[in-house]
Amino acid sequence: MLTIKRFNTLSKELLAALVDLYQEAYRDDPTYAYRERKRIKSYLKWLLRHARGGFFVAFEKEKPVGFLALEEMAPAPEIHEIVVLPEFKGQHLAEKLMAEALSYLQAKGYSRVALWVGEHNLRAQRFYEKFGFKKIGKDGIWIRMEKNLQEKDLTSSHKTAKASSTSEREMVSSGV
Ligand SMILES: CC(C)(COP(=O)(O)OP(=O)(O)OC[C@H]1O[C@@H](n2cnc3c(N)ncnc32)[C@H](O)[C@@H]1OP(=O)(O)O)[C@@H](O)C(=O)NCCC(=O)NCCS
Repeated sequence: MLTIKRFNTLSKELLAALVDLYQEAYRDDPTYAYRERKRIKSYLKWLLRHARGGFFVAFEKEKPVGFLALEEMAPAPEIHEIVVLPEFKGQHLAEKLMAEALSYLQAKGYSRVALWVGEHNLRAQRFYEKFGFKKIGKDGIWIRMEKNLQEKDLTSSHKTAKASSTSEREMVSSGV
Protein backbone atom coordinates (compact mmCIF):
# COMPACT_ATOMS: atom_id res chain seq x y z
CA MET A 1 0.00 0.00 0.00
CA LEU A 2 1.19 3.48 -0.86
CA THR A 3 1.39 6.09 1.87
CA ILE A 4 2.41 9.73 1.53
CA LYS A 5 3.65 11.49 4.65
CA ARG A 6 4.76 15.02 5.32
CA PHE A 7 7.95 15.63 7.30
CA ASN A 8 9.47 18.49 9.29
CA THR A 9 12.46 16.47 10.46
CA LEU A 10 14.13 13.33 9.15
CA SER A 11 15.67 10.56 11.20
CA LYS A 12 19.24 9.59 10.34
CA GLU A 13 17.94 6.35 8.81
CA LEU A 14 15.34 8.06 6.64
CA LEU A 15 17.84 10.69 5.50
CA ALA A 16 20.24 7.92 4.42
CA ALA A 17 17.40 6.11 2.62
CA LEU A 18 16.45 9.32 0.77
CA VAL A 19 20.05 9.82 -0.35
CA ASP A 20 19.94 6.28 -1.82
CA LEU A 21 16.58 7.07 -3.43
CA TYR A 22 17.90 10.31 -4.97
CA GLN A 23 20.97 8.54 -6.38
CA GLU A 24 18.82 5.76 -7.83
CA ALA A 25 16.32 8.19 -9.34
CA TYR A 26 19.05 10.11 -11.17
CA ARG A 27 21.06 6.97 -12.03
CA ASP A 28 20.21 6.99 -15.75
CA ASP A 29 20.81 10.71 -16.23
CA PRO A 30 22.81 12.48 -13.52
CA THR A 31 23.29 15.63 -15.65
CA TYR A 32 21.30 17.86 -13.31
CA ALA A 33 21.91 15.97 -10.08
CA TYR A 34 24.41 16.12 -7.25
CA ARG A 35 26.62 13.06 -7.27
CA GLU A 36 28.56 12.94 -4.00
CA ARG A 37 26.71 11.37 -1.10
CA LYS A 38 27.85 14.09 1.30
CA ARG A 39 26.65 16.83 -1.06
CA ILE A 40 23.30 15.09 -1.56
CA LYS A 41 22.85 14.82 2.19
CA SER A 42 23.37 18.55 2.70
CA TYR A 43 21.07 19.28 -0.26
CA LEU A 44 18.31 17.16 1.34
CA LYS A 45 18.81 18.95 4.65
CA TRP A 46 18.57 22.29 2.83
CA LEU A 47 15.36 21.14 1.13
CA LEU A 48 13.87 20.05 4.44
CA ARG A 49 14.78 23.32 6.18
CA HIS A 50 13.25 25.40 3.40
CA ALA A 51 10.19 23.18 2.98
CA ARG A 52 8.83 23.94 6.48
CA GLY A 53 6.30 21.12 6.22
CA GLY A 54 6.18 20.90 2.44
CA PHE A 55 8.41 17.83 2.30
CA PHE A 56 6.46 14.79 1.13
CA VAL A 57 7.77 11.23 1.16
CA ALA A 58 5.95 8.31 -0.50
CA PHE A 59 6.34 4.88 1.10
CA GLU A 60 5.50 1.51 -0.39
CA LYS A 61 4.98 -0.58 2.72
CA GLU A 62 7.87 0.75 4.86
CA LYS A 63 10.20 1.64 2.00
CA PRO A 64 10.61 5.24 0.77
CA VAL A 65 10.05 5.19 -2.99
CA GLY A 66 9.73 8.87 -3.88
CA PHE A 67 9.76 12.36 -2.45
CA LEU A 68 8.82 15.93 -3.32
CA ALA A 69 10.07 19.11 -1.66
CA LEU A 70 8.54 22.54 -2.07
CA GLU A 71 9.12 25.95 -0.55
CA GLU A 72 6.54 28.59 0.18
CA MET A 73 8.18 31.73 -1.11
CA ALA A 74 7.43 34.98 -2.93
CA PRO A 75 6.29 35.69 -5.57
CA ALA A 76 5.23 32.03 -5.99
CA PRO A 77 5.91 28.84 -4.07
CA GLU A 78 8.50 26.65 -5.70
CA ILE A 79 8.77 22.91 -6.21
CA HIS A 80 12.47 22.33 -5.63
CA GLU A 81 12.65 18.58 -6.15
CA ILE A 82 10.63 15.52 -7.14
CA VAL A 83 12.15 12.07 -7.55
CA VAL A 84 10.84 8.52 -7.72
CA LEU A 85 12.71 5.21 -7.86
CA PRO A 86 13.30 4.01 -11.45
CA GLU A 87 10.96 1.03 -10.99
CA PHE A 88 8.19 3.44 -9.96
CA LYS A 89 8.53 5.70 -13.00
CA GLY A 90 5.47 5.56 -15.20
CA GLN A 91 3.51 4.04 -12.28
CA HIS A 92 1.58 7.20 -11.30
CA LEU A 93 3.58 7.57 -8.09
CA ALA A 94 5.07 10.91 -9.15
CA GLU A 95 1.57 12.04 -10.16
CA LYS A 96 0.29 11.26 -6.68
CA LEU A 97 3.12 13.18 -5.03
CA MET A 98 2.50 16.14 -7.31
CA ALA A 99 -1.28 16.04 -6.75
CA GLU A 100 -0.67 16.02 -3.00
CA ALA A 101 1.67 19.01 -3.19
CA LEU A 102 -0.68 21.01 -5.43
CA SER A 103 -3.63 20.34 -3.10
CA TYR A 104 -1.48 21.42 -0.15
CA LEU A 105 -0.64 24.74 -1.85
CA GLN A 106 -4.21 25.28 -3.07
CA ALA A 107 -5.52 24.73 0.46
CA LYS A 108 -3.11 27.45 1.63
CA GLY A 109 -4.55 29.84 -0.93
CA TYR A 110 -1.67 30.12 -3.38
CA SER A 111 -2.61 31.04 -6.93
CA ARG A 112 0.47 29.74 -8.72
CA VAL A 113 3.50 27.49 -8.33
CA ALA A 114 6.83 27.49 -10.16
CA LEU A 115 9.92 25.35 -10.70
CA TRP A 116 13.18 25.00 -12.60
CA VAL A 117 13.90 21.96 -14.76
CA GLY A 118 16.98 20.98 -16.80
CA GLU A 119 16.66 21.89 -20.48
CA HIS A 120 17.34 18.28 -21.56
CA ASN A 121 15.23 16.66 -18.85
CA LEU A 122 12.40 16.03 -21.29
CA ARG A 123 10.68 13.37 -19.22
CA ALA A 124 10.33 15.72 -16.26
CA GLN A 125 9.17 18.54 -18.57
CA ARG A 126 6.48 16.23 -20.05
CA PHE A 127 5.49 15.26 -16.55
CA TYR A 128 5.05 18.90 -15.49
CA GLU A 129 3.17 19.75 -18.69
CA LYS A 130 0.64 17.01 -17.86
CA PHE A 131 -0.17 19.05 -14.76
CA GLY A 132 -0.57 22.26 -16.70
CA PHE A 133 2.87 23.77 -16.05
CA LYS A 134 3.90 26.11 -18.86
CA LYS A 135 7.40 27.15 -19.90
CA ILE A 136 7.82 30.83 -19.10
CA GLY A 137 11.57 31.41 -19.35
CA LYS A 138 15.08 30.08 -19.42
CA ASP A 139 18.29 30.78 -17.51
CA GLY A 140 21.32 28.95 -18.87
CA ILE A 141 20.61 25.22 -18.78
CA TRP A 142 17.46 25.68 -16.69
CA ILE A 143 13.91 26.12 -17.93
CA ARG A 144 11.41 28.00 -15.80
CA MET A 145 7.92 26.52 -15.60
CA GLU A 146 4.87 27.85 -13.85
CA LYS A 147 1.37 26.64 -13.17
CA ASN A 148 -1.78 28.56 -12.36
CA LEU A 149 -3.35 26.88 -9.35
CA GLN A 150 -6.70 28.58 -9.86
CA GLU A 151 -7.43 27.27 -13.34
CA LYS A 152 -10.52 25.06 -13.50
CA ASP A 153 -9.41 22.82 -16.37
CA LEU A 154 -6.79 20.79 -14.51
CA THR A 155 -5.46 17.93 -16.61
CA SER A 156 -7.30 14.65 -16.43
CA SER A 157 -4.17 12.95 -15.05
CA HIS A 158 -4.12 15.40 -12.15
CA LYS A 159 -7.75 14.57 -11.37
CA THR A 160 -7.12 10.84 -11.71
CA ALA A 161 -4.00 10.93 -9.61
CA LYS A 162 -5.74 12.90 -6.88
CA ALA A 163 -8.77 10.62 -6.84
CA SER A 164 -6.76 7.44 -6.56
CA SER A 165 -4.24 8.90 -4.16
CA THR A 166 -7.05 9.91 -1.82
CA SER A 167 -8.25 6.34 -1.57
CA GLU A 168 -4.82 4.74 -1.47
CA ARG A 169 -2.95 6.84 1.02
CA GLU A 170 -3.34 8.54 4.31
CA MET A 171 -1.88 11.97 4.92
CA VAL A 172 0.13 12.15 8.10
CA SER A 173 1.54 15.36 9.47
CA SER A 174 4.61 14.60 11.53
CA GLY A 175 3.77 17.51 13.82
CA VAL A 176 7.41 17.83 14.82
C1 LIG B 1 10.48 13.39 -13.10
C2 LIG B 1 9.82 12.16 -12.52
C3 LIG B 1 9.49 12.40 -11.04
C4 LIG B 1 8.49 11.95 -13.29
O1 LIG B 1 7.89 10.76 -12.85
P1 LIG B 1 7.47 9.62 -13.93
O2 LIG B 1 6.79 8.54 -13.20
O3 LIG B 1 8.70 9.27 -14.68
O4 LIG B 1 6.45 10.43 -14.83
P2 LIG B 1 5.54 9.86 -15.99
O5 LIG B 1 5.67 8.39 -16.14
O6 LIG B 1 4.21 10.42 -15.72
O7 LIG B 1 6.24 10.46 -17.29
C5 LIG B 1 6.09 11.73 -17.72
C6 LIG B 1 6.10 11.72 -19.23
O8 LIG B 1 7.42 11.34 -19.67
C7 LIG B 1 7.29 10.67 -20.93
N1 LIG B 1 7.99 9.38 -20.84
C8 LIG B 1 7.53 8.16 -20.48
N2 LIG B 1 8.51 7.26 -20.55
C9 LIG B 1 9.62 7.92 -20.94
C10 LIG B 1 10.94 7.54 -21.19
N3 LIG B 1 11.36 6.28 -21.01
N4 LIG B 1 11.83 8.49 -21.60
C11 LIG B 1 11.44 9.76 -21.77
N5 LIG B 1 10.18 10.18 -21.54
C12 LIG B 1 9.28 9.27 -21.14
C13 LIG B 1 5.87 10.48 -21.23
O9 LIG B 1 5.51 11.49 -22.15
C14 LIG B 1 5.17 10.73 -19.92
O10 LIG B 1 3.92 11.29 -20.11
P3 LIG B 1 2.62 10.34 -20.45
O11 LIG B 1 2.27 9.62 -19.16
O12 LIG B 1 1.61 11.32 -20.87
O13 LIG B 1 3.02 9.39 -21.53
C15 LIG B 1 10.71 10.89 -12.64
O14 LIG B 1 10.92 10.59 -14.01
C16 LIG B 1 12.05 11.00 -11.94
O15 LIG B 1 12.18 10.70 -10.75
N6 LIG B 1 13.08 11.45 -12.68
C17 LIG B 1 14.43 11.62 -12.14
C18 LIG B 1 14.51 12.83 -11.23
C19 LIG B 1 14.11 14.12 -11.96
O16 LIG B 1 14.51 14.35 -13.08
N7 LIG B 1 13.31 14.98 -11.26
C20 LIG B 1 12.84 16.24 -11.80
C21 LIG B 1 13.69 17.37 -11.33
S1 LIG B 1 13.24 18.91 -12.11
